[in-house]
Amino acid sequence: MALKRITVLLSGRGSNLAALLAAARAPSYRGAVTHAIANRPQANGLAIARDHGIATSVVEHSAFAAREDFDAALAAVVDASEPDLVVLAGFMRVLTPAFVARYEGRMLNVHPSLLPAYPGLHTHRRALADGVRLHGCTVHFVTPSVDVGPIVAQAAVPVRDGDDEATLAARVLAEEHKLLPAAVGWFCAGRIALHGRRVRVQDARMPDGALLAPFPAPT
Ligand code: GRF
Repeated sequence: MALKRITVLLSGRGSNLAALLAAARAPSYRGAVTHAIANRPQANGLAIARDHGIATSVVEHSAFAAREDFDAALAAVVDASEPDLVVLAGFMRVLTPAFVARYEGRMLNVHPSLLPAYPGLHTHRRALADGVRLHGCTVHFVTPSVDVGPIVAQAAVPVRDGDDEATLAARVLAEEHKLLPAAVGWFCAGRIALHGRRVRVQDARMPDGALLAPFPAPT
């Protein structure tokens, strides 16, 4: 069976792209990143893609007055890459409903919170301000409303007493780097089925019991 073609959209650092590329080296991985597209020419993720011999494109959002025009130009480049799956990995633009509809059921996003908590920006800062004990990340299908699509997978991390935004972000990012490649791999292997808002992952193992934080010492 041919490998599924993955097009990654990104805006900056590209560490999730790097994690995906590392995972896709496994012989059993059913997908290959074939194209990386950024909305900013200076995005570091473009350099990561080039280092791996992957085609890159830039569609600069600042060159378009209207969001619809940017999305139409972006869709043309995405379509030319002939993806089976589009992955938003740190892509920091809100996409129009028309763009999202075009890739319905074959576009995934990684978001740095346990959705539906903390959609949008500054998730780690907001989690700290609220004093939550568990934070984390989510991989979900993209739907027209931002950060609310069907959830494929989530990873929870504890919020530690000494945390600041940077330490918490780093703990979450380490989980993003595992969760996104895993979810993309399941998609490429045909193991993901959508049932309304609920996603089933074939042959997924689920933890028993609860995740507790803090975990009290025995008395
Ligand atoms: C990640 O935390 C991702 O969840 C968020 O933006 C960040 C991108 O990081 N949407 P990178 O560019 O993949 O390093």
